[in-house]
Amino acid sequence: MTADPIRNDRLPAPTAAADAKATILVVDDEPELCRALSKLLGRNGYFVLTAGNGEEGLVILRQETVHLVLSDLKMPRMGGLDLMKAAQVISPETEFVIITGHGTIETAVEAMKVGAYDFVEKPFSTTTTLKVVGKALEKQHLMAENQDLRRRLEEIQGMHNIIGNSDVMRQAMETAQQVADSTATILLTGESGTGKEVFASAIHRWSDRAKQSMVRVSCAALPETLLEAELFGYEPGAFTGAVGRRQGRFEVAHRGTLFLDEVGEMSLTTQVKLLRVLQESTIERLGGSDPIEVDVRIIAATNADLEELVREGKFREDLFYRLNVINMELPSLRERGDDVILLADYFLQVYNEKNGKSLQGFSSEALEAMQKYSWPGNVRELENAIERSVVLCKTEFVNVESLPRPVLQGKQRFDALTIPVGTSLRDAEMKLIQATLDSVEGDKETAANILGIAARTIYRKLN
Ligand SMILES: Nc1ncnc2c1ncn2[C@@H]1O[C@H](COP(=O)(O)OP(=O)(O)OP(=O)(O)O)[C@@H](O)[C@H]1O
Ligand SMILES: [Mg+2]
Repeated sequence: MTADPIRNDRLPAPTAAADAKATILVVDDEPELCRALSKLLGRNGYFVLTAGNGEEGLVILRQETVHLVLSDLKMPRMGGLDLMKAAQVISPETEFVIITGHGTIETAVEAMKVGAYDFVEKPFSTTTTLKVVGKALEKQHLMAENQDLRRRLEEIQGMHNIIGNSDVMRQAMETAQQVADSTATILLTGESGTGKEVFASAIHRWSDRAKQSMVRVSCAALPETLLEAELFGYEPGAFTGAVGRRQGRFEVAHRGTLFLDEVGEMSLTTQVKLLRVLQESTIERLGGSDPIEVDVRIIAATNADLEELVREGKFREDLFYRLNVINMELPSLRERGDDVILLADYFLQVYNEKNGKSLQGFSSEALEAMQKYSWPGNVRELENAIERSVVLCKTEFVNVESLPRPVLQGKQRFDALTIPVGTSLRDAEMKLIQATLDSVEGDKETAANILGIAARTIYRKLN
C-alpha cells in the first residue's frame, strides 16, 4: 500500500456541481485510499461518506441520498459491480464511477456497459478525478431534474382532472401544454359544457404564470358599466355608486392570467376599450387618468360563433383577430368516442365519494344508452346525469332507469328527418320541433334543451 495513493497535482477550482453540495459515497477496502479521496473531495466542497465494501455501501445507499458513488471493483464481501446492480434498484438516480487498479480495466469497461458513468485509475491524478466526478454529477443532476419535471407534470395533470383518452382530446391537451408558456392570447371555442373553463385553468397552471392567479370574469353576467368597472376598476365618483377606489380585474391578474369567459356577450363599447388595453398593455381606471401598466395573459372563451357575430356587426373584427391568436376548438362529447364511458366512470367515483355511496359501475344497458346518446350539453350534462343517478340508484350498478329520460331515449335522437327541398324554413322548423318532441315523449323542457332554445319559444311556436 502506498503512503498516499493520490498524486499531488495542482487543485482545480470547485465545479458548479460542487457548489450544490453533492453527496459522494467512496467505497474501497483500502482505508488509506478512502481517507485520501475523502480529503480531496471534501476540500472541493463535496459531502463525503465512506464504506469499506459493497455491503456497507448498500446500507448507506438505503439511508442517505447519494448523488455519486466512487467504488472499487474487487472488495471482500460485495464487489463494485454487484453494488452498482443493487443501487440501480434501490437508488436509480445515483451515478457510479468505478475505481480501477492494474489489471481491472477490462472489468471497468464492462461496468460502464452496464451503467457506470466512467472510471478512474489508481494511482489517481487529482485533476482527472475531480473532472470525472464533476461530469458524473452534472449528468446525475440533469437526469434527476428531468425525472422531477416528469413527476411534476403528472401531478399537475392529476390535479386538473382533465379526463379523456380519445385522439381529439389528447391532441387538445398536447396543444394546451405547448401554448401554455407563450404570452399569446388564446381563444377557446366549443359547445357549452365541453370544458373550456377546465382548459383555461389547465393552461394557466401549465404556464410560467402559475405562481400568480387566474382571474375569471364572465362577460355575460354583468351589464356594460358594471363589467367595465369590474375589468378596469374605478376611482371615487366615477359613476353613481362608485364611492371608494377599486382595482379592476386586469390589475388583480397582473403577472397572471385573465380568463374572459363568454366574451361574445361583451358590448361593442366595452370591446373598444378592451382592444385598446390589449394593444397598449395599460389600463385606466374608470374616472381615472393615469395609465397603469399591466402584464396579463388573456384567455378568452365563447360558445358563440364569433365569426358569425363579426359578420352581423355584433363583434369587432379587430378584437376578434386580437383574441384569436391561438384558437383551440374543444371537441363535443359526441366526437370523443369512449371518453363518455371514461368520464362516466370518473364522475361515478367523484359522486360516490360525495354522497357516501359505493356504486360499483354501470349495467350494460346503461352503458349502451350513454354511448348512444348525443349529449348536447356535453361533459356538464354527463356529469349532472351521473350525479343524479348516484343519488337515485338503489342497486349496486347504475341501472338504465336511473339515467335521465333523454339519455334513455338517446337512440331515437339520431333518427334522421327528411325535409324536402322546397319546404319553407318555418315548416322545416316546425317539423324539427315536432320530431324532437316526439323523441322525448312530449317533454317540452327537454326538447327545448336539445334544440338550444327556451321552452317558452316552443310553446309560442306550437300555438
Ligand atoms: N375533460 C374533462 N374532464 C373532467 N371534467 C370535465 C372535463 N371537461 C369538462 N368537465 C367538467 O364539466 C363541467 C363543464 O365544464 P366547463 O365549465 O369547463 O365547460 P365550458 O366549456 O366552459 O361550458 P360553458 O360554455 O357552458 O361555459 C365542469 O364541471 C367540468 O369540471
Ligand atoms: Mg364556461
